[in-house]
Amino acid sequence: MTKTAIVTGASRGIGKAIAKELFSGLRYNVILLSRNPNEINAVSEEIKANCKGRFYDCDCIPYNCDISNKDNVRETFSKVYCDFGSIDVLVNNAGINSRKTFPKSRNLDDWVKNFDDNLRGFDEEVAINLRGTFICSYLASAYMLSGIGGSIINISSVKGREPTTSPGYGASKSGIIKLTKDFAKALAPDIRVNCIAPGFIDTGMTSELPEDKKEDYKKMIPFKRFGSVEEIARVARFLASQDSAYITGASIDVNGGYLMR
Ligand code: NAI
Repeated sequence: MTKTAIVTGASRGIGKAIAKELFSGLRYNVILLSRNPNEINAVSEEIKANCKGRFYDCDCIPYNCDISNKDNVRETFSKVYCDFGSIDVLVNNAGINSRKTFPKSRNLDDWVKNFDDNLRGFDEEVAINLRGTFICSYLASAYMLSGIGGSIINISSVKGREPTTSPGYGASKSGIIKLTKDFAKALAPDIRVNCIAPGFIDTGMTSELPEDKKEDYKKMIPFKRFGSVEEIARVARFLASQDSAYITGASIDVNGGYLMR
């Protein structure tokens, strides 16, 4: 039977590339989750158009879902299960970076003034990046356990592995590495749970960075360039497939050597 994979935040960037890879590389049914119905419908059409004629046994379907809303996720996963008969792979990719940073100065007024704004960013990042990953993993696991097991792939970040100036983003991404191990231990051997920690990847998220900052980051990467979304997607495909059958609880760095500095 054709396997079914759910990819969260699949409307663009890394999520879209992973969806393409699972559809065209593994021939899984791929469920694209996004909060944006217009964007996601177009993505599903684009992915299918690129593979036209070659795939008759799998489909690529968009569903609207905000992963920080537990009722929305519960209803969506139930619908996917009813429509496709199984949930075999979950890719927890959806994420935000509010870019709320600690104040640069040591001035008391600056810290006090920035508190509410920083806390708002922290709450949003934890609610979507970390809590959303927990909600989706927990609910998908129930369906996977009722079937033949499965594979969960979490998307953390190099910023979850080193100190960062954005505490909400860093803490949420560190938390994902920890959640990966907790779920992996609880669910072995039925469900494998692994994590990818990308470095700087060319997407909408990094395009927001000022050019001079991007160049500074590139100097710190041994490969002297940002990664591509396809370079992350291929690792996700490996973790989704039986090629990684003996891997669980792992976090794989895909960062052009950035952490070797
Ligand atoms: P992006 O901003 O281009 O795409 C993020 C996707 O998540 C979008 O489709 C967005 O609509 C979706 N999303 C956000 N909140 C959502 C919610 N509540 N419910 C459903 N969907 C939601 O980001 P990009 O760059 O493709 O990043 C994807 C993942 O990779 C994120 O988790 C990010 O933190 C992580 N990452 C990205 C890096 C980069 O350099 N681009 C580096 C390290 C990690």
